[in-house]
Amino acid sequence: MCGIVGYVGNEACQEIILGSLERLEYRGYDSSGIATIEHDQLQLCRAVGKLSELKVKIKEKPVSGYMGIGHIRWATHGGVTLENAHPHLANSEVAIVHNGIIENYAELKKDLIEKGCVFISDTDSEVLAHLFVHAFREGCVPVEALRFVLSKIEGAFAFAAISKSNPETLMVARNASPLAIGFADEMAIVASDATAMAHLTRQVTYLKDNDYAVVTAKSCDIFNGNNEPANREIVQVKASPILLDKAGFRHYMEKEIHEQPDAISHTISAMSDVGGNLTAGIDIPSLSKIKRIVLLAAGTSFYAAQIGRYWIEKLSGIPVVCEIASEYHYRDPAATGQTTAIVISQSGESIDTLMAMRHAKNLGLDTFGIVNVADSTIAREADKILPTRAGPEIGVASTKAFTAQLVVLICLAIVLGKQNGHLDESRVTYLYQKLLKIPGAVGKTMKLFDPIRPIAHQLKNARSCLFLGRDMLFPLACEGALKLKELSYIHAEGFASGEMKHGPIALLEDGLPIVSFVSEGKMALKAISNLKEAEARGGYIIVIGTQVAVDLIDFAAAKIVIPDCEPIFAPIVGAIPVQILAYLTALEKGTDIDQPRNLAKSVTVE
Ligand code: M6R
Repeated sequence: MCGIVGYVGNEACQEIILGSLERLEYRGYDSSGIATIEHDQLQLCRAVGKLSELKVKIKEKPVSGYMGIGHIRWATHGGVTLENAHPHLANSEVAIVHNGIIENYAELKKDLIEKGCVFISDTDSEVLAHLFVHAFREGCVPVEALRFVLSKIEGAFAFAAISKSNPETLMVARNASPLAIGFADEMAIVASDATAMAHLTRQVTYLKDNDYAVVTAKSCDIFNGNNEPANREIVQVKASPILLDKAGFRHYMEKEIHEQPDAISHTISAMSDVGGNLTAGIDIPSLSKIKRIVLLAAGTSFYAAQIGRYWIEKLSGIPVVCEIASEYHYRDPAATGQTTAIVISQSGESIDTLMAMRHAKNLGLDTFGIVNVADSTIAREADKILPTRAGPEIGVASTKAFTAQLVVLICLAIVLGKQNGHLDESRVTYLYQKLLKIPGAVGKTMKLFDPIRPIAHQLKNARSCLFLGRDMLFPLACEGALKLKELSYIHAEGFASGEMKHGPIALLEDGLPIVSFVSEGKMALKAISNLKEAEARGGYIIVIGTQVAVDLIDFAAAKIVIPDCEPIFAPIVGAIPVQILAYLTALEKGTDIDQPRNLAKSVTVE
């Protein structure tokens, strides 16, 4: 994680860099800082905590100059302290900002200390600053200094460095962590993503792995890992120049929950052609090549994958496996023939998912990406993109991106079933017509805030909570548990209802909250017996389902009624009450809803 920015141009850089850091705040909020150069002197301002702390500090003691770098930190190496906040300076000569992990920092640091370097922080990043100082003292020009530093370090990184001996030159490089360079008249800006520079320019170049560059206000020389000049395309990005606001809601999460009817209908449109036929945006030859699927993702996106697996196998008969991206990346999967890898990522930057996709590519698999951020690394590297149209998601807890991912997956499942004859035309039409009703059903769930409020009030005192579901509602139970733990810090786990008696039932004690999805139909009776067993052991039973389904559970302590929908779409509609439950419980507890402790929106470290 962490976000980095660098600016060189003809305007005072403090406010420009702060503006970029605001747009990068989703990447971390442990500390932040800015370093600038003016009159051959480095100036530094850093603060622990959110960016607002830096703004307060910098108001009292501004930094000046026309070139500078900035950083927003999500701590990896070294605690959350001022000393560990970036930028890191060495000998008041060089300042650096870094995103990623320098894996061989310990041996480099030992060597540099032996040479007389004094380290201030516990971070891995500080070695970069000392290596640059060493290079400049050896007489290197910026490009040589970059080559020297890159020859020494191993790991994942995107960094920017400035040196008072070269007060008009930014030195930048990347490997595995993202880095973009934006251009406009008489200025250049580098940042972890294009949104961070959208207030200045839309003309952007993305560095590739192992690229490095020497950037001034008027020039940009990019080199590849073989030290050859590299021509990287300049693209026009669509990122909004306007900072998103909360539109009257208390939190981005609350706003994003309410945006789901739109996110879902926009995503359905993206999955349909101009004639209103479902295509998932994939041509027929590509569709018919798909014989087996591996779904790769992390966190909430992984739970979307697991629901997608139920749908694809049910509607198309195509075998699907789901793999946690960080595990797949290091596995040697045995059977890969005719398998398509579909990676799912809101940000398109999760390093685990990106690495898993690259691993799949190396194994010879076609790669599809279900991605929300259109100009992200995964979106650029996947063979094909199935976009979610959720719009920018700022709250760390994923809400509208999750339901949009589900929409893409159900559309893909229907289209695959139609293509291979598993579904006949009338069934496809029926499902599509029912799918078009989902934005309306999700709209009705927004009325659930009031009925869920007393349940959240009750839940806030719980030490632990279980979520249960069967069939395609089992992964949704896991997603409900993840939402509750990341927002309210209450321990929560999701289980398949039928699995309780195989062990988890031992956890039951008086008053333990059990949130259970219940459905109509053949699974209902099984769910009732599982819940009866839990209630008999003191469980506080909260059920979520349609009116008909919850009416079957007359012993429930609380009921959350979702609007009627075709049962196969229940995971989409059922997602909203667990988001609301987690949101309201966090509100009761007073936790930091949009930026929960220890988390970041985009996880770019392994
Ligand atoms: O951007 P991605 O979808 O790749 O992110 C994956 C997870 O980090 C993410 O879903 C995480 O679990 C969220 N905080 C869940 O709310």
